Amino acid sequence: MATFQNSLPDLTRRAPAAGPAVYIETYGCQMNTYDSQAIGGLLEGAGFRLVDTELAADAVLLNTCSVREHAEHKVISRVGELRMRRRQAELGPVVIGICGCMAERLGDDLRKGPKAVDLVVGVDNYDALPGLLKDLTAPADGSGGAGATRTGHRLDAHYVAPPELYPVNNSHLVTIHKGCDYKCTYCIVPMTRGPQSEKAPAVILDEIAGIVARGGREVTLLGQNVTAYRWQDSLDFAGLLEQVAAIDGLERIRFLTGHPRDMHPHLMDTIGRLDKVCPWLHVPAQSGSDAVLRRMKRLYTAAEYLAMVDHARRAIAGVTFSSDFIVGFPGETDADFRATLDLVRRVEYDQIFSFKYSERPGVPAARLADDVPVEAKKERLAELMDVQQGIWAKVAQAQVGQVVQAVGEGPARRPAGAWRVRTANNRKVVVLGAEIAAGDAVTVRLTGWDATTFFGDRLDA
Ligand code: 5AD
Ligand code: SF4
Repeated sequence: MATFQNSLPDLTRRAPAAGPAVYIETYGCQMNTYDSQAIGGLLEGAGFRLVDTELAADAVLLNTCSVREHAEHKVISRVGELRMRRRQAELGPVVIGICGCMAERLGDDLRKGPKAVDLVVGVDNYDALPGLLKDLTAPADGSGGAGATRTGHRLDAHYVAPPELYPVNNSHLVTIHKGCDYKCTYCIVPMTRGPQSEKAPAVILDEIAGIVARGGREVTLLGQNVTAYRWQDSLDFAGLLEQVAAIDGLERIRFLTGHPRDMHPHLMDTIGRLDKVCPWLHVPAQSGSDAVLRRMKRLYTAAEYLAMVDHARRAIAGVTFSSDFIVGFPGETDADFRATLDLVRRVEYDQIFSFKYSERPGVPAARLADDVPVEAKKERLAELMDVQQGIWAKVAQAQVGQVVQAVGEGPARRPAGAWRVRTANNRKVVVLGAEIAAGDAVTVRLTGWDATTFFGDRLDA
């Protein structure tokens, strides 16, 4: 049985106020957000205090992302900045640890050179953190303690994070598997997160029941490829959704990320049939060119992707789509890029996340020449975002005047006195007026929109 497929840590338990203080900063995807929660739970359970600034911390953990070079640069410069801010505040040095994908990719190298950190702990070794941090922050023999590197994959290491008491978007994250068995040629994830390995269904169901028992109503099932979930050939993702949907008291289920190839008609039909599963699919297309998709080893063509979208639209009432795209993949011609624009226009996504190709050391695509000039990548990115903006304007404008159901998330950043609510198909709406508490169901008439947000009036107040 897996090492950490244990019961939920008790949220009511609080660490003693005197324990060493740890500040955790999270970069990258929601899997890291979940892992940071798990790390927080492990540390609190071992007597550490979690704090929300590096200036109050005895140790800082950076939970990092390697998916693009830029993400790694940000972390390295943050290490320097952390030290500088401590000096400026006339505080002593702080223990710094790097967790997550960079720890796995760069290992011991992160403990060398001018930006050397004390601890490097990879994605499957977080159970070692309490012991390692204790040595560094309060060593038994009074010495400064030695740093350490713990990396390497353990298929059975699955963390169960305590649910956040007040999750930002009202949805409790639940990681259902880790790693990835696809071999998309641009992607570092199979190297940093290792092979796909599932959390046991009983553990997932237990975790969600625990969230519901604490008042949670919504979960987001997480994984690099949740749609590839497969437990011992007896349960696939559609089957897991059925079991999760049967949990009494749970109202909404979202999931991230789906692989287009795994969006079988049966899965889409199941999503359409289960009322609790939200009609929103984040299914990264990456490109609309078959030649590029082939070099990326995405295992579908643009036509197959569009057929999937068509089926989903028939099977799932009111479904909306979001996607990721990479521009400037090796060998991408202008015609290839036009094919991406075509696909984006055909699908009419609510939202896309688009990135310039970033060559990652050791991935299969690194053997291809990174031959699209930086300027061309920039121009394509800008054009793609521009086309999407036009599509969203059309989609959003057609919604104005519609009455929708939504769920409260908390105060909006602006304007003052406004509340953020989210529809089942993941549309954000800002509503003025009396407080809408997180989790409250509301009926809203959409009155307008800007960049990615609708404005609305509450009808049931
Ligand atoms: N360069 C640019 N973008 C990448 N992504 C993954 N690897 C790379 C890379 N090497 C993007 C993909 C993925 C998202 C999480 O990050 O679009 O879906
Ligand atoms: Fe990377 Fe492809 Fe796996 Fe996604 S499916 S994590 S893009 S290898």
